[in-house]
Amino acid sequence: MEKIRVMSVFGTRPEAIKMCPLVKELAKHPEIESLCCVTAQHRQMLDSVLDVFDIKPDYDLDIMTPRQTLSTITSKCLTGMDDAIEALKPDMILVHGDTSTTFAGALAAFYHQVPVGHVEAGLRTYDKYSPFPEEMNRKLVTGIADLYFCPTQNNKDNLLREGVDKGLFVTGNTVIDALMTTVRKDYKFETAELNELPYESKKIILVTCHRRENYGEPMKNIMLALKHIAQTHEDVELVYPVHLSPVVREAVDKYLRGTPRVHLIDPLSADEMHNLMARCYLVMTDSGGLQEEAPALGKPVLVLRHETERPEAVTAGTVKLAGVDQHTIEEMADRLICDKAAYDEMAHAVNPYGDGKACERIAQAILWHFGKGEKPEEMKA
Ligand code: UD1
Ligand code: UDP
Repeated sequence: MEKIRVMSVFGTRPEAIKMCPLVKELAKHPEIESLCCVTAQHRQMLDSVLDVFDIKPDYDLDIMTPRQTLSTITSKCLTGMDDAIEALKPDMILVHGDTSTTFAGALAAFYHQVPVGHVEAGLRTYDKYSPFPEEMNRKLVTGIADLYFCPTQNNKDNLLREGVDKGLFVTGNTVIDALMTTVRKDYKFETAELNELPYESKKIILVTCHRRENYGEPMKNIMLALKHIAQTHEDVELVYPVHLSPVVREAVDKYLRGTPRVHLIDPLSADEMHNLMARCYLVMTDSGGLQEEAPALGKPVLVLRHETERPEAVTAGTVKLAGVDQHTIEEMADRLICDKAAYDEMAHAVNPYGDGKACERIAQAILWHFGKGEKPEEMKA
């Protein structure tokens, strides 16, 4: 029997965390040959995830350069993908989310007339420049894709409103599948500093910040707010694994480094990060993935952005938009640190983003698409 050659393409940390469980799930099906092509838009942060999930790519474009521009990422991915497609001869290409790798991967697939499955389809802010360039990347991929794996019903509704009416599946987000394999009660950190944090006696705030639309003034405001929070609350410790982007590291060095009670550390592996999140008090972030993971773990999130394409946890009450104004961020954090009732109102586990079976549903939908299985049941809200 000829196997269906399904090539998963990803390049950055979050795509890897959300695609590695799928690469493994596809490999369980005898009808499928699960292939993995990485662009390495991120190098170290990608390799760390591949290690955690023990995945060895079949093809590696190795494109990353320091301070890479959007155009260089896209053009290097696009030409590199020509070689990968010719070498691996996929019957279907899977891309994830909204990065430059996602867009270039889908475009290359289209040029080779290979059908595309879009994992994490249908997220929208309807603001072309925020998040930048992600909102446009995911819209462009919508025009190319054949199958749409929507994390939530809300994401599917967005696509239906845009006139996409075929190949839609509500699957849940594969990040919840990943989280279920990484978080453990008895987890011991490899990063010594994390084992020594006063989880019981102090409030640990987990921070990340990296978005391109926050570069410049917004990032400065965020850093100054974090500094103020650490300086004014003796019962708080901030733990901030700093993204490897030189732009982010410069802002951190300029405005935050040296502040007492602020732990600036290198990026954590996915398992360290997920277990730290499970033990922290509060999450402050502009990340997309953290907005999905923290609610599942019952941790309140202050989002350091004006908008979100993930409104489900805002509706459920565990996520609030704090924006990028220094004083507003400080006030919202103060409230959650000092007002137990306000904190308790937000700190409950909700799982609008998945039930841990997203990868199974996606594999089933692919088999169905190729006439090898039943149509999967969609995830119920
Ligand atoms: C990218 C994605 C963004 C996603 C984020 C996840 C685009 C346009 N942006 O943004 O959607 O939220 O990844 O983190 O696709 N670097 C390293 N080593 C690494 C990773 C990055 O040194 O392992 C440095 C390099 O100097 C690189 C820079 O970080 O040039 C920025 O990386 P890039 O992928 O361009 O942008 P991100 O902000 O990471
Ligand atoms: N993450 C990680 N180590 C870190 C910071 C984040 O493993 O030091 C994980 C995080 O748990 C989530 C993903 O990386 O699964 C989010 O990636 P990121 O914030 O870089 O991108 P985004 O989700 O905003 O696209």
